[in-house]
Amino acid sequence: MKGLFDARVRLCIEPIGEPDLSSLPVQEQALVAKAVPKRIREFVAGRTLARRMLGEAGIAAQPLLRTEHGAVPWPSGVQASISHCGPWVGVAMTTESGIGGVGLDIEEAKPLEETYWHVILTDDDMRHLLSWPESERTRVAKRVFAAKEAAYKAQYPASQQFLPFSAMWIEVGTDMQSFIAHFRVDASPWRTGDVLRGRFADLDAHIVTGVVAPPPQS
Ligand SMILES: CC(C)(COP(=O)(O)OP(=O)(O)OC[C@H]1O[C@@H](n2cnc3c(N)ncnc32)[C@H](O)[C@@H]1OP(=O)(O)O)[C@@H](O)C(=O)NCCC(=O)NCCS
Repeated sequence: MKGLFDARVRLCIEPIGEPDLSSLPVQEQALVAKAVPKRIREFVAGRTLARRMLGEAGIAAQPLLRTEHGAVPWPSGVQASISHCGPWVGVAMTTESGIGGVGLDIEEAKPLEETYWHVILTDDDMRHLLSWPESERTRVAKRVFAAKEAAYKAQYPASQQFLPFSAMWIEVGTDMQSFIAHFRVDASPWRTGDVLRGRFADLDAHIVTGVVAPPPQS
């Protein structure tokens, strides 16, 4: 996982295991009171790992609640991101200044079949995808999907806005290890044409995607 983020961001990825719901503050437990067991496990694993990392950074975590769009309102001075997929939970976190947001996404590495492209890909994405050899396109499309989710998470602290998949298009680097996310809409303080840069890493049949957003120009 080396190189997914630069040295300012700490990344921990570990197996979800069987985390204990009762170990969370009651305000956090309430957020998954009606959830199914799988969702409870991943939620508890994410909160537990995030709290451990905050503690290691010397920050006593208040309950880690949820904004109207599902993001965690992190303690002041912290930018972080949670992802869970299959057996894995991950948290990327920084306390450095000069960072607008962090986005982490873990996805199964299975290709994204053409049937789903219309949901995720814009005309700009399609133009980019068609520049790849046909045999690579479903793999690249999966990376486009992962990149959009990670970039969405990284932009969110600044904009506090939900953005649909049409809001950005993704340019995947020729080595499939990096990408540039291009805004196709204004989402203040982000403007059409702004870019976020990210990287991919491979983990046991999963793709891990990381984005560090710069402080937006307002
Ligand atoms: C929010 C979303 C990106 C999560 O991705 P996912 O693959 O379903 O799930 P992950 O496990 O990777 O991430 C879930 C975590 O993301 C975090 N998260 C949720 N909404 C978030 C937001 N608006 N901003 C930042 N982080 C968010 C939460 O911590 C959540 O975990 P938790 O509920 O246990 O706290 C996805 O469900 C979604 O809504 N996508 C549509 C929006 C989008 O991607 N737009 C693309 C714009 S180009």
